Amino acid sequence: MARLQRRYICSECGHESPQWMGKCPECEAWDTLQEEVTAREKPPSARRNSPAGKSIVAASAVPRAITEVAGEEMPRRSTGIVEFDRVLGGGIVSGSILLIGGDPGIGKSTLLTQAAYSIAVQQEEPATVLYLSGEESAHQVALRANRLGAGASRFLVGAETDVSAALQHMQHMQPSLVIIDSIQTLYDPELESAPGSVSQVRGCAAQLARFAKESGVPVALIGHVTKEGSLAGPRVLEHLVDAVLTFEGDRQHSYRILRAVKNRFGSTDELAIFEMGEHGLTVVENPSAALLAGRPREGNGSAVTALMEGSRALLVEVQGLSSRSHLASPRRVVNGMDPNRVNMLLAVLEKRLGLKLAEQDVFVNVVGGMRIAEPAADLGVALSVVSSFREQAIEPSTLLTGEVGLSGELRAVGHLEKRLNEAVRMGFTQAVIPRRSGKKPERVTGLKIVEAETLLDAMRASLLPAARISGS
Ligand code: TYD
Ligand code: MG
Repeated sequence: MARLQRRYICSECGHESPQWMGKCPECEAWDTLQEEVTAREKPPSARRNSPAGKSIVAASAVPRAITEVAGEEMPRRSTGIVEFDRVLGGGIVSGSILLIGGDPGIGKSTLLTQAAYSIAVQQEEPATVLYLSGEESAHQVALRANRLGAGASRFLVGAETDVSAALQHMQHMQPSLVIIDSIQTLYDPELESAPGSVSQVRGCAAQLARFAKESGVPVALIGHVTKEGSLAGPRVLEHLVDAVLTFEGDRQHSYRILRAVKNRFGSTDELAIFEMGEHGLTVVENPSAALLAGRPREGNGSAVTALMEGSRALLVEVQGLSSRSHLASPRRVVNGMDPNRVNMLLAVLEKRLGLKLAEQDVFVNVVGGMRIAEPAADLGVALSVVSSFREQAIEPSTLLTGEVGLSGELRAVGHLEKRLNEAVRMGFTQAVIPRRSGKKPERVTGLKIVEAETLLDAMRASLLPAARISGS
């Protein structure tokens, strides 16, 4: 008979505690510990002999020379969507389990329906895909597939919320890929906690992972991001799966960004940009052009910088707005990058350029739902605010790249040549780069390169006189 176990699990970080606490000792979040009562799991010794212990890479358990192992290719299957494959590191690895997370309504079901279809109708090797939905009825899934023109006889759909029934279908149908939409709707009746709770989500995902490893059939889990922004409720799923992809974007805008935040079989800095349209998602072939579309060419507060996303450079627009504040402590609102970095840049602007920002509300927005994680964008961010503050536009065909130091000096950035080439490709005519970049890139043609030592130099080289705007 199973013994009952009572424990408390943090819904933010998955920390387990035998007693309730107001504050999670791990992630320090308040009021996140939730009671879970479960049947006690089998002790590890009983589990050791079960096939669950097998892992994909350990198909042959005998240790071998590392050089021999390294040469082996992971068997992968293409999703039929080139960009999706690229984010995965070249397709879905056999026996792997991946989690695709995102806000409700962002297009997760759509993306996987499209992938399921293209796998089911692949020319060389059409395969059966099993799509199990606990969110919607089979009919609703089929309606979506119809809208997407994604009907195929090898595309099987079922509505299922019981994990053991789901596993039975999976064993019986022998698909080449299983899609679970979503992991939060699955439950294991043997666990006593409520569907969607931490231990249910984790327990079901563990059983599916075991199935994947044993059968070699990859399983894709869809997970909702909670209000707090963590994947599938708690982050507890992240260590259970081989890859975590996030599907992000602004529901108001049509762009969707797919990126890997964890990938045991590939890099985590590739990303793909899709556009949601009438008939589903299409790949955005020229992300820079898409991200810069609609940019005001005359207005102030708009700067263009280049971000490295994986192996590619992308041009993005950063918008800064500074306006007189009526609050005792003016607002700093940042969208798409670390607010602390923005605060640092504002302090540098105040101290080194003498900008009186103390009485200004400052807003910084990275356009198109992109996120800045590189200091190389500092110059663009800083000058977007300067441009708004001084009501002087930045010369619209100028790319700004450089890290800003605390003395207002510009510091070198990596992959300069790639960034500049992307600017040339997008028809930019000038680039302001840090003087300390070492060797000036030679192969960039058609671009006037201004080497700036400080923020002030960069500002002089890129801001247009105020008169030009008022005259426009
Ligand atoms: P969906 O894939 O159901 O989102 P998720 O599974 O992440 O919750 O897609 C939701 C939105 O996408 C919905 O508002 C309708 C829209 N949509 C389109 O614009 N075009 C399409 O072809 C489809 C299928 C959906
Ligand atoms: Mg959905």
